[in-house]
Amino acid sequence: NGIITIDPGFKNTGSCESAITFLDGEKGILRYRGYSIEELAEKADFLEVAYALIFGELPNAEELAKFHKDIKDESHVDEEMKKILDGFPKSAHPMGVLSSLTSALIAFNPSTVDVSSDEDMYHAIVRILAKFPVLVAWTLRKKKGLPLDYGDDSLGYVENIHKMMFKRPNQDYKKNKVVIEALDKLLILHADHEQNCSTSTVRIVGSSHAGLFASLSAGISALWGPLHGGANQAVLEMLEAIEADGGDTKKYMAKAKDKSDPFRLMGFGHRVYKNFDPRAKIIKVAADEVLADLGIEDPILEIAKGLEKEALEDPYFVDRKLYPNVDFYSGIIYRALGIPTEMFTVMFALGRLPGWIAQWREMRLNGEPIGRPRQVYTGENLRSFVELDKR
Ligand code: CMC
Repeated sequence: NGIITIDPGFKNTGSCESAITFLDGEKGILRYRGYSIEELAEKADFLEVAYALIFGELPNAEELAKFHKDIKDESHVDEEMKKILDGFPKSAHPMGVLSSLTSALIAFNPSTVDVSSDEDMYHAIVRILAKFPVLVAWTLRKKKGLPLDYGDDSLGYVENIHKMMFKRPNQDYKKNKVVIEALDKLLILHADHEQNCSTSTVRIVGSSHAGLFASLSAGISALWGPLHGGANQAVLEMLEAIEADGGDTKKYMAKAKDKSDPFRLMGFGHRVYKNFDPRAKIIKVAADEVLADLGIEDPILEIAKGLEKEALEDPYFVDRKLYPNVDFYSGIIYRALGIPTEMFTVMFALGRLPGWIAQWREMRLNGEPIGRPRQVYTGENLRSFVELDKR
């Protein structure tokens, strides 16, 4: 009808129909394909959840075994990719490196771009599920100055990721059940979150038929920002700064409430959750358990709990319905697992990968049109060109 409504940040605009993830922000409910996040985090493993998100149903044992085998068969990453990684300075932010490597992967896997059949699509999906963890592990190993390595086909998907990330040269890899379970749970909790900033990016880039890997690379860039996935890094840096500053949480609460101060309490607030973030509840308990199991006493956890308690009683946060989100406690676990702070958002990307893939697949299978929002023009009316010497 020619009438354009502007909705900055798309706060009230639905971009698609989706059968993947259900979210009720008022009640704090999150479900993947109808299964509650609480039940999945407790009973499922990450690969099963990935399968369910992407294909709609939990796999039976045979389907899961085939899926895992197909992934293992594709886990080789071209040696030339190592040269690309080599070109980055060690100081490069891992999210920039990961986004670039994901894009570079297209050059070595051109058959993943045109996905006109179900088979092509499955092939592209399995390839990225296989190769992305290798890129993540390489990114971490470069940061730590460790030699690059491939995985071990005899291991489970998450265990293999852990080994690829942490195996030291000339040392046997020892599986730590607590660590693998914590990692599995974190990845499941991050696996999808309907039409958030990075997922919308993946869908909109994919809507031009740019290809799965290009869409994912764009999604990684979107996730990087501190208002989105980058918040997990920002939370830990904030907690460390508070600790270094003497642990005065009240001072930082005051800063967060001061409208003339750009400081925000990182890990607090959410566009959709206005009651609590169900993922944060699970992660808080997991953080306690992991630290206890690993025998780590982290003063940062106490600062986080103190901040949370104060915020939940403070009218500023209560009135605005600001609660801890998924990123508030996740960094404490990552830190306990020995993952460097700059890698936290990469871990988020690893978890979100199946969700991005599922959303991209749904968008393509639904035959959605190219994403192309409109605008309301507020610039100058027609004016005459002024020659350079007259300006
Ligand atoms: N600390 C202090 N004040 C806040 C915060 C915060 N963390 N979050 C929101 N507010 C205030 C904000 O200033 C505004 O106040 P007022 O109404 O007086 O102007 C009000 O609460 C509403 O905030 P908003 O920015 O309009 O809400 P939004 O839906 O646009 O933003 C958000 C949501 C998550 C970007 C925001 O809450 C935020 O910046 N949080 C900190 C960053 C963070 O933790 N991000 C991770 C989000 S969850 C995982 C993910 O998406 O990846």
